[in-house]
Amino acid sequence: GHLYCDDVTISAIQDGLPSLLEEGLHASPFFLLSVSQIERNVGAYTEAFQQHGTSHRLGYAIKANYSPSLLRRLRTEGVECAVAVSGYEVRLAIDAGFSPSDVILNGNGKQPWEIDSAVKAGCTLNIDSGFDLHHVLLASQKHGLKANVLLRLNPNIDPKVHPYIATGLSCCKFGIEEDQLPAVLRKLQESTEHVQLIGLHCHLGSTIRDTGVMRECIQYMLKKSQELNGMGFQALRYINLGGGLGIDQERHACRTRGPEIQAESDVAAFPTAAHLVNALMTPELKESGLQLILEPGRSLVADAGLLIAKVIGVKANGGQRFIVVDGAMTEVIRPALYQAYHHIELTEEPRCAEVQLGGAAERHPYHVVGPVCESADFLGKDRWLKTPHEGCGVVVFDVGAYCGSMASNYNMRGRPAEVAVKGARWWLTRRPDSYEDIVRPFEDTDAELEPTK
Ligand code: LLP
Repeated sequence: GHLYCDDVTISAIQDGLPSLLEEGLHASPFFLLSVSQIERNVGAYTEAFQQHGTSHRLGYAIKANYSPSLLRRLRTEGVECAVAVSGYEVRLAIDAGFSPSDVILNGNGKQPWEIDSAVKAGCTLNIDSGFDLHHVLLASQKHGLKANVLLRLNPNIDPKVHPYIATGLSCCKFGIEEDQLPAVLRKLQESTEHVQLIGLHCHLGSTIRDTGVMRECIQYMLKKSQELNGMGFQALRYINLGGGLGIDQERHACRTRGPEIQAESDVAAFPTAAHLVNALMTPELKESGLQLILEPGRSLVADAGLLIAKVIGVKANGGQRFIVVDGAMTEVIRPALYQAYHHIELTEEPRCAEVQLGGAAERHPYHVVGPVCESADFLGKDRWLKTPHEGCGVVVFDVGAYCGSMASNYNMRGRPAEVAVKGARWWLTRRPDSYEDIVRPFEDTDAELEPTK
């Protein structure tokens, strides 16, 4: 009757967490991260690569989850490079022990200070446009250095995902399109004193389930690298295909999709890291001598994370039943932003005596919603759940990627605690925000909304 994460009941962590927090900090909701699952996810990539025996590099896109202890752990587990998309992410990667040469600064709008610090530290940079190359040149000239760069190409390939997370189509703001390439290459040829082109980069999009699009992409990249070789760019060593592999977030969905669809769905099996690597390790890639870099985020960390919330109450409006919980779009914005499905379960059997709506044994279709003042604030819709008692634990699945890192203080909600679990042990890895954490940056200026002289 209890839900476990590793060898611990989630209720035990819920009950024990408040005693680890200082007075005035709030223990619910909180993120829970399974270290064993992280290990399995990294292992899946490294084993898949090893099968092919060719050289490769496994990276991690920090944006998915920038918890410093997670980053350190990924590094010791065998993740070789870290992909940053801001100056602070570069700094975090270096602080986490990545050698600067293993840190890649990516981004379509890098700011001068971000480029400056990455070049100075000796990081690799992905060039996203003509102006981006110009900015990188300014920084490397200023410091008398030679920056290693990859060109981020825009191959105009449809990754077949939600439009907000498709990035490799020509309608997207990312990368260098075919007709812009000659000008960028000319500039590179004139600037060999300050930049060295060491590879090509591309990221088609996120939540990809069709490895065929990634295969199409590697063919495009190989063709481009041959063209560049022919033009005298002899130092190409890498093809970086970005991240993008999705995970099957609906794998448990049949449990809560209602009586008519309780059977396992017959949707085609979701590709794994091994499927992806096998699709990419083509004979052409092996012959090219180029090293493949992958820099996944989601498929390394998403299914290792849970949000643990508590039921505040149960109500019905206009015939629609709602379970109101203390977790919200401030912690898990993906349902509101991308209509993403995150599986939801109760952590324990509902206690009949406290039930307000209907019998506890029956399941009903509930919208699971948070306390934030937006109708977009839902974690899941039409979930067939038993009617929970107040205080009952609620688990939101697959929130290890793009949830904590996209969390906000909207409604002055504190970002929650994070707890790690391994086997039977669990410990705090982030304390929740306090009132002061949110207010201090404003109060530090001591300013009133009066013009100052
Ligand atoms: N490399 C680059 C250049 C990227 O832009 C991204 C993600 C990745 C790697 C990692 O992709 P992944 O393996 O995690 O799919 N907030 C959205 C996802 C945005 C992804 C942005 N770029 C979401 O919650 O689905």
